[in-house]
Parts: sequence; C-alpha cells; structure tokens
Amino acid sequence: MIKKGIILAGGLGTRMSPITKSVNKQLLPIYDKPLIYYPLSILMLAGIREVLIIVNKGQVNQFRKILKNGENFGIKIQYKEQQKPNGLPEAFIIGEKFINNNNVALILGDNFFYAQSLTKTLQKTSKLKNGAKVFLHPVSNPKLYGIATIKNKKIVSLKEKPSLTRSNLAVTGLYFFDKNAVKLSKTLKPSKRNELEIIDLLNKYRKKNKLNAEFLGRGGAWLDAGSIDDYYDTTSFVSAIQKRQGFKIACLEEIALKKKWINKKVILESIKFYGNCDYSRYLKKLIF
Ligand code: TTP
Repeated sequence: MIKKGIILAGGLGTRMSPITKSVNKQLLPIYDKPLIYYPLSILMLAGIREVLIIVNKGQVNQFRKILKNGENFGIKIQYKEQQKPNGLPEAFIIGEKFINNNNVALILGDNFFYAQSLTKTLQKTSKLKNGAKVFLHPVSNPKLYGIATIKNKKIVSLKEKPSLTRSNLAVTGLYFFDKNAVKLSKTLKPSKRNELEIIDLLNKYRKKNKLNAEFLGRGGAWLDAGSIDDYYDTTSFVSAIQKRQGFKIACLEEIALKKKWINKKVILESIKFYGNCDYSRYLKKLIF
C-alpha cells in the first residue's frame, strides 16, 4: 500500500495572472472550497494519510492557516518550499526525506478528478509495488497535453504536446511511483524550458517496461484548473453536481469521518473553525 503522497502546489500561475500575482492558485476557490481541497481529497480517498505539500517560497503559512497539520482530517501534513518552479520531478528531490525510501503518489495541486468508482480505482492503484502508474484520460485536443500510446495497459510511447498523434490519451496530474522515483529524478537534466520534465522521468520507467496506465473511465471528469476557462469550468462542474446531488465533492472531513480517521468531536471543532457558513452546515448534517 502506498502510504505517502505529495501535492505540488507551487508554480507561478502565469496563465491566471493578475489573479495569481499575490495569491497562490491552489488557495483560490473552486466553488465553495479552496482548490487544494480537491487534490488532497484524492490522496485521502486513495487511503494516504501522510502528505507533503510543496509550496512556493514564503507561502507555507498561508496553507497552514487553512489545512494546519492535517489533524482535523485525520492525516499528517508537512510542508516544504520550492525555491522556484523547476519542474514536477523536483517534488521527489525536495521530498526525499519525507519519502524515506517508500513508494509515493504525486498529484498536481491544480488537478481535479471526478469519476464513478474512483475510490475503488484509487485503492487498487495504491497497491502498486514496482514501477510507475499514471492516470490517463481522453482529451479533444491532444496537441496541448502529454500524450500516451498504450498496448495492453502498458504505455509504449509518451510525447509532450505532439503535433501529430493517433492517441488522444492525456497524461493527467496523478502519478504513483515506486521508491526509485527519487534516485531517477536526480539523474534528469533540465529541458529546453529549463525544467525537470515528468515525461522524462516517466520515460525512464517506460524504457524498462515498468510504466502502466490507469483510467478514470468514460464518464469521469479530469480538469486542470490552470487557465481561466478551465478554472471556471471546474467551478461550474462542482456547483452543478453538488446542487443536483446534495453531496459535496472533496469535503475532507466527510472523507475522514467515513474512513473513521476522525470522530464527531473533531467535526465539531472544524465547524467552530470554519464559522457560520454553508460548509459548516453541511458538516453539521453529517453528525446529527
Ligand atoms: P504548471 O501548469 O506547469 O504551472 P502553473 O500552475 O504555475 O501555471 P502557469 O503555466 O500558468 O504559470 O503546473 C501545474 C501544477 O504544478 C500547478 O499546480 C503548479 C505546480 N508546480 C509546482 O508546484 N512546481 C513546479 O515546478 C511546477 C512546474 C509546477
């Protein structure tokens, strides 16, 4: 079982400037909660209780103010700073001590996932022992994404923003790695855009025939809230589903309560912390 997970929540947020000039993108709202709640909920649904959140220099306190040490969600959260956005695999270098020679999941702080039986899929994926696993999802414009071609669930080729491709399977921002991720990330060289590239790390696994694919399924949604349009699409999606069903997506306390990681007393503390708001009223309904 993978027990540790990293959320990469730094980045410049250039595409959403000026909104992101003074606020970290992951703290902006997606409908009724901060964006970071969504990727954190995915790690929790995968059964991960030890989480490292990597943020930009000087931003730890902003995140700590809302997520604290994770106690209220029945998990343990640590924080580390990234000096500048040097690329996704740097997460494994910054997180080396946290990972401590274990397998690890990585999720991007601006990625949103919603799918039928997602919990089951995540729990299955977190049993990974060797190699790496990435979540793939079809997209209508493959030219904008890292694209994988697969054969029997094994990834046979990976291309960053291909101009010509038969596959439409994008590599999403959710990855599961064995403990070699740290060692391998250290061997990567910066690309032309001067970043360590996740595709280069994944290719190291692929060349050893150790890169597998997992899927959200046709009815699933994957959005990366990185551009203004995608950001508002994600908010609309959450609002529409929540209003229709009456359930909240990514209510961290609800996930923790269902998993028996916290009890009613902790929920009452959270209600006090959040104050008089819709989110607190939802929490109240969970325990009365
Ligand atoms: P990107 O989409 O590459 O970058 P960004 O979100 O800062 O946006 P922009 O391109 O508009 O400047 O990053 C995806 C996610 O990963 C995002 O949540 C930020 C995070 N990230 C880091 O924390 N550190 C990094 O070095 C990189 C490259 C990304």
